Amino acid sequence: MSGTATVSQHEIKDLALAPKGKQRIEWAGREMPVLRQIQERFAQEKPLAGIRLIACCHVTTETAHLAIALKAGGADALLIASNPLSTQDDVAACLVADYGIPVFAIKGEDNATYHRHVQIALDHKPNIIIDDGGDVTATLVKERQNQLSDIIGTTEETTTGIVRLQAMFKDGVLSFPAMNVNDADTKHFFDNRYGTGQSTLDGIIRATNVLLAGKTLVVAGYGWCGKGVAMRARGLGANVIVTEIDPTKAIEAVMDGFRVMPMAEAVPQGDLFITVTGNKHVIRGEHFQAMKDGAIVCNSGHFDIEIDLQALSSMATEVKEVRSFTQEYSLSNGKSVVVLGEGRLVNLAAAEGHPSAVMDMSFANQALACEYLVKNKGKLPAGLHSIPEEVDKEIARLKLQAMGVAIDTLTAEQVEYVNSWTLGT
Ligand SMILES: NC(=O)c1ccc[n+]([C@@H]2O[C@H](COP(=O)([O-])OP(=O)(O)OC[C@H]3O[C@@H](n4cnc5c(N)ncnc54)[C@H](O)[C@@H]3O)[C@@H](O)[C@H]2O)c1
Repeated sequence: MSGTATVSQHEIKDLALAPKGKQRIEWAGREMPVLRQIQERFAQEKPLAGIRLIACCHVTTETAHLAIALKAGGADALLIASNPLSTQDDVAACLVADYGIPVFAIKGEDNATYHRHVQIALDHKPNIIIDDGGDVTATLVKERQNQLSDIIGTTEETTTGIVRLQAMFKDGVLSFPAMNVNDADTKHFFDNRYGTGQSTLDGIIRATNVLLAGKTLVVAGYGWCGKGVAMRARGLGANVIVTEIDPTKAIEAVMDGFRVMPMAEAVPQGDLFITVTGNKHVIRGEHFQAMKDGAIVCNSGHFDIEIDLQALSSMATEVKEVRSFTQEYSLSNGKSVVVLGEGRLVNLAAAEGHPSAVMDMSFANQALACEYLVKNKGKLPAGLHSIPEEVDKEIARLKLQAMGVAIDTLTAEQVEYVNSWTLGT
């Protein structure tokens, strides 16, 4: 590997927060048995020795366990935030103070600081990038072509980042392998669905303390995240409307028992709106205009583009903070619209992100994807690569084992049957 790391140690809120961070990181570890086993093996085998690695992730207690596992595996790892509002400052402090991991992340950092941290991370001259949303990979490709020869590969955590990587590949600028962590079964089935489902509602409740029972709640997007949010909101007694642009997903929502309609029709009915589409301006000026007085709007998709806040600001006569992470926009039509978490991921802005038990599997995929990239250095063609099925199944097996759940295995007769085409009626 060429080049040396030239970064100072950290840029965080306050090192004195480390003890609180340590306590919370240890608590999260109780629900992360799969990553713990990987960390123990990594500590013995050092599969990432000599690898400079940067991780752009939400700086949470669960990410702390990923960073610790990567360091145990021998990586020279550095961590930055993948979102200006998602950093847990006590976690950042603990990683620096107790584990010697450089962290550049402060909750509430402005966009300029966020982008400066991306540059600092790239100054680390990474061989592997763990990305969440694709900002670091996109910056590397656009501005740091001289570093491309150092790159063994990247891994990508979220749906939005995968969409960006596909676009980069189509434009011929993705010159290295990128592991598609998001599409591993043990990632999106659980993280996107059960993780986003629970933590999005947790964020809304912490920010507002509203009762969901009896409310009309509009979920935009019925992908993995949307399914989770809709399912859990119904469980709390909300009357859920789904909006979609994909006819198949829309049928699925209808058959799952939800009302499906265009956003324009849903707008006058909704008390609470949640976007989880990965798309831009799903709720915009004409929608705000027609909302009920006091309607609450938030986003749990990756970027803060799903709600057109610029349009809302231009329509507002006054904006005031009514609770933490809760801003009320008064409109000239006499009504108001309440926005949570500045339109950023509400589960990370106003709550703690996904429960540790699901991140256990997502981050097990991340750690094993890094090991896979190193093992296959120089052998994988440029472009997106799935997590190998045996890795995905092994993570599921370890998780079940930790949960104390046993399953059947195929009998010899069944093995023969499923591998034969001659045995029919
Ligand atoms: N909050 C979190 O912690 C978290 C976790 C995982 C993923 N994400 C993010 O959430 C977003 C959704 O992820 P996913 O895995 O559910 O993706 P997905 O591709 O499975 O689902 C997105 C759905 O949105 C629909 N859609 C697109 N444009 C729309 C529009 N204008 N109106 C209505 N529906 C529309 C699509 O048809 C699709 O069904 C992504 O940005 C992803 O990165 C967030």
